[in-house]
Amino acid sequence: MKILITGGAGFIGSALIRHLRARQLAEVVNVDALTYAGNPESLPGLDADPGYRFEKVDIRDREALERVFREHRPDAVMHLAAESHVDRSILGPAVFVDTNVVGTQNLLEVAREYAASLDDRPDGPGTSPGATGQADPLSPGPAGATPRERFRFHHISTDEVFGDLPPEAAAFTEATPYAPSSPYAASKAASDHLVRAWHRTYGLPVVITNCSNNYGPYQFPEKLIPLMILNALAGKPLPVYGDGGQIRDWLHVEDHAEALWTVLQHGEIGRTYNIGGDAERTNLEVVEAICRTLAELRPAGPAPDDADAADRARAFASEAVSHDDADRANPYRALIQSVTDRPGHDRRYAIDSSRIQHELGWRPAHSFEQGLRETVQWYLDHPEWVARVQSGAYREWMEVNYARRSKATGSR
Ligand code: NAD
Ligand code: DAU
Repeated sequence: MKILITGGAGFIGSALIRHLRARQLAEVVNVDALTYAGNPESLPGLDADPGYRFEKVDIRDREALERVFREHRPDAVMHLAAESHVDRSILGPAVFVDTNVVGTQNLLEVAREYAASLDDRPDGPGTSPGATGQADPLSPGPAGATPRERFRFHHISTDEVFGDLPPEAAAFTEATPYAPSSPYAASKAASDHLVRAWHRTYGLPVVITNCSNNYGPYQFPEKLIPLMILNALAGKPLPVYGDGGQIRDWLHVEDHAEALWTVLQHGEIGRTYNIGGDAERTNLEVVEAICRTLAELRPAGPAPDDADAADRARAFASEAVSHDDADRANPYRALIQSVTDRPGHDRRYAIDSSRIQHELGWRPAHSFEQGLRETVQWYLDHPEWVARVQSGAYREWMEVNYARRSKATGSR
């Protein structure tokens, strides 16, 4: 089976491709425009893999997409390409509408025309050039299905479409109404609606997944977990928005990759599956867990040349407020600062993933504590990857996003 994956040079797309290729589950065509978030270095060794092809294409470019479908003839599409960072969407929403809404509509149209062109005879030639017409046992659809019947369009979306979940409310199910808060979430909600409309109106065989916050290796350090790990190591402030009491439901990216593959293979056409880690944590709990893990794995503390950080650590250790001994001795924790909150910041997300667990048998393999520890270790072990992504463009973003956030209540 050959899968066209959009956004495969990003955080989740690259994890998905590494997952599929390491297990030889499918051939992959990676369609990615390589925006600031796309990084071919997150796909080590794949250049030499005959089952992997890269196409530097923007999903807003219809002609280029048509060529890619014509030349590669995929059996399925997994659509991850998107602008994905909420803070960027607040500072510049237009590109979110362009890529996430218009880009998705473009891809849907090209996929629809392509799907209609596929053979509809049970013994018709396969989708890939040279294919025999024998169904790949790993491809979706029942035995004897035609190439057209086996085709799938899998749209990868987010729990943010459901909006702000009250503290005592039950977790989001697939029936929770949409109430997106940020421009990012609204653009993803719009794209989900388009995908459902293309199924209902044109019969495009779609599956949709809505997932909670991912973490793990190769995540671009503008997102909470890698940002905090790298700032802590460098002795820089750890900027917690507002009171840090916002709750996210964390899932290891490799568990997400496995869930996506499960849904592509076995998901019911037209159906949505929520994916979550069953690991609700406040942001402050996450940042404190990172500090504890770093104190174990890198006890030497933050970069010693940051005199300011050393002063803050000393001041923290001598504070009269109650910290336990381990916290008092933790040089990273002293870097935590509360800063101006994100506008429209949702207080809580939580996913009820019982449908995918009961119907398709998937469940997360990583506990949050184990996954976080492995992730911290990964960033410690990959200084070259980190140095290269912390380029000029990254430094500019850090300036734009954090310079305008004043310290809200000082260090914790
Ligand atoms: P990311 O920002 O790390 O990667 C996005 C990728 O899309 C990049 O490689 C980028 O180059 C590419 N891209 C962006 N615009 C493009 C365009 N116009 N044409 C072609 N390629 C383009 O994002 P991610 O965190 O890997 O998220 C992937 C998908 O999963 C997104 O659709 C996101 O909404 C969804 N999602 C993310 C999370 C999360 O926690 N990160 C959780 C749930 C769902
Ligand atoms: O819920 C799924 C979503 O998770 C995905 O759809 C998005 O693509 C992905 O970016 C992520 O969105 P978040 O806004 O939740 O992720 P982020 O890492 O930016 O922030 C996580 C939480 O941490 C959020 O409550 C804001 C807070 N935060 C973030 C940063 C970058 C801080 O307190 N300080 C920070 O510096």
